[in-house]
This record gives sequence, C-alpha cells and structure tokens, in this order.
Amino acid sequence: MRGGGFAAAPQTTPAAEAAVSSEIILETHHLRREFNGLVAVDDVSIRVVAGQLHAIIGPNGAGKTTLFNLISGILKPTAGRVVFRRRDITGLPPHRIARLGIGRSFQITNIFPNLTVLENVRLAAQARGKDNLRFWAPYQRFRQYEARAWEVIQQVGLSGREFVPARFLPHGDQRKLEIAILLASDPDLLLLDEPTAGVATEEIPLLVETIRRIREQGRRTILLVEHKMDVVMTISDVITVMHQGRVLAEGSPAQIAANEQVQRAYLGDMDTVPQGKGTGASEGIPLSE
Ligand SMILES: Nc1ncnc2c1ncn2[C@@H]1O[C@H](COP(=O)(O)OP(=O)(O)OP(=O)(O)O)[C@@H](O)[C@H]1O
Ligand SMILES: [Mg+2]
Repeated sequence: MRGGGFAAAPQTTPAAEAAVSSEIILETHHLRREFNGLVAVDDVSIRVVAGQLHAIIGPNGAGKTTLFNLISGILKPTAGRVVFRRRDITGLPPHRIARLGIGRSFQITNIFPNLTVLENVRLAAQARGKDNLRFWAPYQRFRQYEARAWEVIQQVGLSGREFVPARFLPHGDQRKLEIAILLASDPDLLLLDEPTAGVATEEIPLLVETIRRIREQGRRTILLVEHKMDVVMTISDVITVMHQGRVLAEGSPAQIAANEQVQRAYLGDMDTVPQGKGTGASEGIPLSE
C-alpha cells in the first residue's frame, strides 16, 4: 500500500491512482493484538478508500475477525492505531465508534427473534436517531423511522416480509435482516464479517447482489471479510490478504488471483514464502501498485 510501508511493485494502475486522489476513510497503523503471547494481528497497516468495497481475505485464523474487533472497538490493540476520517479512534468504546459512523454486524445477536422484520429495523433506525429512550418523542418522528425501515427493507430485498417475526425467516433472509439493521443505523463504513456464512448456496447470489447494490450507491464504504473466492473476486475493488496475522498482499482482484504467494497461502504451503520484517507484508511480493 502506498505510504503504508509495504513493498510495492513499481507499476501503477488506474485504480491505484484513483485511490491516491480519493478520501481515505479508514486507516490502521501498525495494528497489533496479542492473546496470551499469540499474535493474532501483527503490524497491520491498511488504508480503505471511501466508497470502495475493500475485502479482507485469508485462511482460517489469519486474524480477520480480530482486525474487525479492533476497528469496531470490541478489542483494544496491544499496539498501533485506528484512524477513521482522520480522527484517532483507537481504544474508544464500541458505542462511540458506532456513533461516529462505523457499523458492524453482530450476526444473529442483534436480531430480536420475536419482533417482526419491520420492528427490528425500525428500532435500529430509532437508536441511530437518538430517540431510543424518549418514549414521548413525537409520533411524527416515529413515522419517519418507520419510513426509513421500509426503505431499508426494500433495499436489502426483504419486501413482503415486513410483518414476519424474525425467528421465522430462513437463514439467508436473517442475514439480509442483519444488513438491514446495520443500514438503518446509517453507517458510513460497514464491517461485514462473512455475510454469506451459513446461507444456502442458492440464496447467495441475492445476498451478494444486495451488498453490490449498497456499494454501487456510492454513499457507503464496505469492509468485507469473506471466504467465498468467487464472491470476493466479483464484488471487490481492493483485496487485502492476511496470513498469520500479517498483511501478505494487497491489490485488485486480478492481481490477487495471479499472486503465487497468495495461492500458496491458501494451499497451506507457506514454507516457501519469505516472511516480511515489520512491514506488514512479505518481502518481494508484488503488491497493489
Ligand atoms: N478472544 C480470543 N482469545 C484468544 N485467542 C483468540 C481470540 N480471538 C481470536 N483468537 C486467536 O487469534 C487468531 C486469529 O483469529 P481470528 O478469529 O481473528 O481469525 P479469522 O481470520 O477471523 O479466522 P476465520 O476465517 O476462521 O474466521 C486465531 O489463532 C484465534 O484462535
Ligand atoms: Mg473470522
């Protein structure tokens, strides 16, 4: 990554040029997190361009979820910084980070199973509107949240299910509901951790389409952790590959697909990959630029 201290290939791409001139919405600087001696996230420096869909991929245990936990404030880093819109948010509690505009899906835990789809999404819109404790808020405002909920439900492809209790939704629709709940809180940056996990194969294209549409509207930035390579390759602008806590490579989908070290990491044959020293990337790996 440019300026991030990574070894970069000399050539530039139009996407890389655009990235330089665009707003960087989120940066991590030499982020590190240890768990009792295990380094789960090791010197990770990434820069996320506003409006892009930036995927984080890597084998199991690479540190992807831990990275999300550090960005969203669930975990505090052992070292390093997180900067959102040029503001240092390192160590802030999760609710403050959420208020600043970073939305994180928490899988099923955010859904109230006995409430309908509409009620779930309206509550999320209301929480963002700071009226969640004001029961005397004017009815007009309630209508406003409800309108927002209908809009978001339509956006994620759940129209027609507004009055279905969440617990009756098929798994794929529950994942859509999670995204709707996230969107209702109107985040500028969405952190999606394996949104297609557990979703039936035939339901995946619609879910991917939902994410693609959010990205194409251009108002939001998406940081996506996803294992399904076909999904990642088709919807990402930029891909960062993590392995054993470190950034192994970064680039466009085409660059990542052609990267031999990345292919080896996925095949588990890491013996031949030289380990980088303190740069967040292995030496000599052709990176994004
Ligand atoms: N709370 C924790 N306590 C101890 N170790 C942890 C904790 N959270 C994560 N780890 C360890 O940190 C490493 C990175 O885990 P993490 O969940 O971030 O990987 P991941 O890339 O999200 O993997 P997956 O693709 O399987 O979800 C793993 O070795 C994991 O066991
Ligand atoms: Mg994970």
